[in-house]
Amino acid sequence: MTGPSIEILDLWPTKLVRKMLDSIEEPNLALLKLVREWDKANRNLTTDYHDNNPFEIDSPATNWLRGEVNQAIVEYLQAIGIDFPVDWQIHGWASLNRTGDYHDNHNHPHCYLSGTYYVKVPKSGLNRRQRGDVRPNHITFYDPRTAFNMQSIKADPYVEPEFTVLPQPGLLMFWPAGLMHFVHPNLSDETRVSISFNIILKWADHYLPTQE
Ligand SMILES: [Fe+2]
Repeated sequence: MTGPSIEILDLWPTKLVRKMLDSIEEPNLALLKLVREWDKANRNLTTDYHDNNPFEIDSPATNWLRGEVNQAIVEYLQAIGIDFPVDWQIHGWASLNRTGDYHDNHNHPHCYLSGTYYVKVPKSGLNRRQRGDVRPNHITFYDPRTAFNMQSIKADPYVEPEFTVLPQPGLLMFWPAGLMHFVHPNLSDETRVSISFNIILKWADHYLPTQE
């Protein structure tokens, strides 16, 4: 005898893509050199994100990174079931965080996806006795559905209003551009170097959902 079956829908999921890239040693050295040169010329490199786009540079390392990002976007679109042509451009910028540098909670308006490739992350974040919940050099993402944890109980999927990652060199991550995220302070004496990017769609009318 079978009773009525229960249906549980997983509504409004948030996609976060993580991919560890292979053969990173050579390109990372070259990307590090490039970012350090830019940083020497511009102490506000990280906030002047309009003017330093590594994805516009023709070099083995930047070409490699462009190819990896494009490939991962293709894999993502396929995985979520987008089966029509999508055309985009990548707008990137370099970030070099010294001791104490962080990025306040923010999202990336006017873009489709946003992401970061990590070139160099300090191993030890702590250089003095600090509280146990300090998470130097991590990145935290916040549940876009406001206050869904208010009624959550242990073990349900909405208990944690945040998701935190300590990136490793070679990690590529991207997410919907509207997702709020916070980059925790660098508390080490070493620099933290990454290349962030926005995926901006070149508009096509066939992107519009069909109204039924
Ligand atoms: Fe960001």
